[in-house]
Amino acid sequence: MKSSDIARATKKLGVDVRIAGWVHRKRESGGIIFIVLRDVSGLLQVAVKKDNVNEESWNSAREATVESSVDISGTIKEDPRSPTGYELTASSFKVVGISEPFPITEYQSAELLLDKRHLWLRSQKMINVMRARSAIFRYAREFLDRRGFYEVTPPILTTAGGETGADLFETDFFGRKAYLTESSQLYVEAMEFALGKTYSLVPSFRAEKSRTVKHLAEYWHLEPEMPYFNNKQAMDLEERLVSSIANRLAKENAEVLEKLGVNKDELLKIKPPFERISYEKALGILNGKGMPRVWGDDFGVEDERALTEDKSKPIFIYNWPREIKPFYMPINPKDTRTVMNSDMLAPHGHGEIIGSSEREWRFNELMQRMREVEEKKNIKFNIKSYEWWIELRKYGSVPHSGFGMGMERVIKWLLNLDHIRDAIPFPRMSNRLEP
Ligand code: 4AD
Ligand code: MG
Repeated sequence: MKSSDIARATKKLGVDVRIAGWVHRKRESGGIIFIVLRDVSGLLQVAVKKDNVNEESWNSAREATVESSVDISGTIKEDPRSPTGYELTASSFKVVGISEPFPITEYQSAELLLDKRHLWLRSQKMINVMRARSAIFRYAREFLDRRGFYEVTPPILTTAGGETGADLFETDFFGRKAYLTESSQLYVEAMEFALGKTYSLVPSFRAEKSRTVKHLAEYWHLEPEMPYFNNKQAMDLEERLVSSIANRLAKENAEVLEKLGVNKDELLKIKPPFERISYEKALGILNGKGMPRVWGDDFGVEDERALTEDKSKPIFIYNWPREIKPFYMPINPKDTRTVMNSDMLAPHGHGEIIGSSEREWRFNELMQRMREVEEKKNIKFNIKSYEWWIELRKYGSVPHSGFGMGMERVIKWLLNLDHIRDAIPFPRMSNRLEP
């Protein structure tokens, strides 16, 4: 018989089913072995009765330890006494792979759970976060695919950064210095001039030493580029993308969200338009809240929280001061103190989830802007490694915009996780490279 998963099997009451899973819990009482069986779809109580199975099955059930993989056949009935609401009476029981005593028990330190991440991924929490993560990746891709975007694959090994360059991981490339990409934007821009609307969804790397609940050293970065879009049109697209992800997550994953304690009605309320506040106005709001901020200050965790604590939807902060934003962002002709950009902040202090801007697409203006950033930030671009990207401005350039969305930031917010490390299976942080 082909094996089923637990969720499907509990819809086939009274007929023979076969399920392959893992032993979640086990106890024995009066000639019956009770096993709570686990697979990705849920938990199911199994009763192995001595009179009901042959000796081989009985011995296997006795031998089975917590986390052993098992292959069970039998029939399921509803049973109000069972913690899972159903009970499978086994007709045969086989241990596939026996488990040594499992190193994770009920109360464990966060550190041990990270050391044993490869095993902790089997916990109910991580299973459901990973199911939601998989869905969120799919919704993001499908949203863009439906709108005619091409998914492209940029290189991970590069010679230059796309952002500050200050937090690049350096590596040896056959005797040359290379870096793990901190953003694929520059490469996606090149492909955009061939394919039109494009996006990449690959990891970005940031050598962030600071340990915060929203920084990873390796995170998955969705980076779309749109020819002929201005920043306002980019914001329109971003709020639709984020709403689509939140709404589909709520509509298509009720059970997963319930297990994670996430209120799906809150997610269904996330709909365009999102509030749009200029940087200048945001400064005023912060000052009004007794947080003295002056022109040119970047916003930290406290500021992001103050601006979003009473919001139920994300907000945009647009037109930031030119001196704190990267070289590719064009100056705002209506207020030359600022650039044509916006950040999207998630509600309740979850912080920045999207960074977005128009791209300086004109050669002379770009060179001027790069020189200005060099001066202001007292850095020196390795122009040689940007040459190819600058050259795009010489051969039929067009105005365009794009943005970067941190997938784990979005997951952390939508699932209301305390820490970004639980939004990714194997987190990489300044103090964590294993497993
Ligand atoms: O604001 P950032 O640095 O912008 C860029 O890299 C642009 N080149 C993107 C683009 O326009 N194509 O990063 C974009 C987003 C942030 O808004 C945040 O969601 C996420 O990437 N992010 C991180 N996520 C997890 N851990 C980190 N250390 C992150 N740094 C940025
Ligand atoms: Mg940013």
